[in-house]
Amino acid sequence: MTTPVKIAITGAAGQIGYSLLFRIASGALFGPDVPVQLRLLEIPASMQALEGVAMELDDCAFPLLDSVELGDNAEHIFNGANLALLVGARPRSKGMERKDLLDANGAIFTEQGKALNKVAAEDVRIGVTGNPANTNAMIAMNNAPDIPAERFSALTRLDHNRALAQLARKTQSRVDEITNMTIWGNHSATQYPDIYHAKINGHSAAELVEQHWIEDDFIPTVAQRGSAIIEARGASSAASAASATIDAARDWLHGTPEGDWVSMAVVSDGSYGIPEGLMYSFPVTTQDGNWQIVHDLEINDFSRAKMDASATELSEERDTVTELGLA
Ligand code: NAI
Repeated sequence: MTTPVKIAITGAAGQIGYSLLFRIASGALFGPDVPVQLRLLEIPASMQALEGVAMELDDCAFPLLDSVELGDNAEHIFNGANLALLVGARPRSKGMERKDLLDANGAIFTEQGKALNKVAAEDVRIGVTGNPANTNAMIAMNNAPDIPAERFSALTRLDHNRALAQLARKTQSRVDEITNMTIWGNHSATQYPDIYHAKINGHSAAELVEQHWIEDDFIPTVAQRGSAIIEARGASSAASAASATIDAARDWLHGTPEGDWVSMAVVSDGSYGIPEGLMYSFPVTTQDGNWQIVHDLEINDFSRAKMDASATELSEERDTVTELGLA
């Protein structure tokens, strides 16, 4: 029998967890032949809810679900994890400043980075969904000196998928006819969804739409989609965030198709003039669990300004967490 994969998931009793766990347990990430062991982390106050979720996992009788371990201790739950999906985070509460949010989450991701460093499997990959995702991932990475920096990534795949859906709708094409979409920067309102390299059935996407649609409709719709969903649903995006978390991990581990790429926030090596060490979303290709930034794309002035604005925001977040002594 194939050796089971150990997947640690934090915030497992939350909204995203409620969609994510069931899809992973049914084989959406590793396919129909690989059993999975779920290791679920929560805070003490949510352990009872997590026990209810685990009862439902039992009740699904998923043939691929080898075991489920629950706990509120990061070192215990991360022990031997091959993949860690860090979804749990402190939400912004009323009156909370950005600095307070970075502080509260910085403490969580410092502790989790240290725990992963100590007990995760040799081949661990770590995907951060919990917001502020890019900076949380940077903090975890900086607190795990024995894990190669390339093993950390933050989720911008939901933004990427949103961009595909908007472009497909506008051009009356299917999402699978679109390739080479890019999200640059932070998973925040400064993100830059870039269609200048995107192709639809091999033709330049930018030539099929008007510049004013890109500027006035496409970019704001993608960048503010999270707020629009909160307004409509009364709760933040959860099923789509879980789906994107799976897409991102699956493509990271199993590879991108020839000629295409995906968007992942990964540690900058200075490519495209983005300051080194920031966790910045780039176009990447992946193979066997490793990613490579796509180089030598031509960047027009419009794109340059937007890429720089998002880098500036991430630099400011890094300055704040450095002042707080967190990274
Ligand atoms: P939620 O509030 O429903 O669930 C979060 C869960 O995390 C809660 O059950 C909470 O108890 C748990 N948690 C908090 N601190 C923890 C810790 N230290 N260790 C383990 N668990 C902890 O939130 P939801 O909707 O599931 O979203 C989770 C995160 O994902 C939020 O930060 C949200 O902003 C973010 N998000 C990110 C997206 C992206 O594209 N990167 C898209 C949508 C949401």
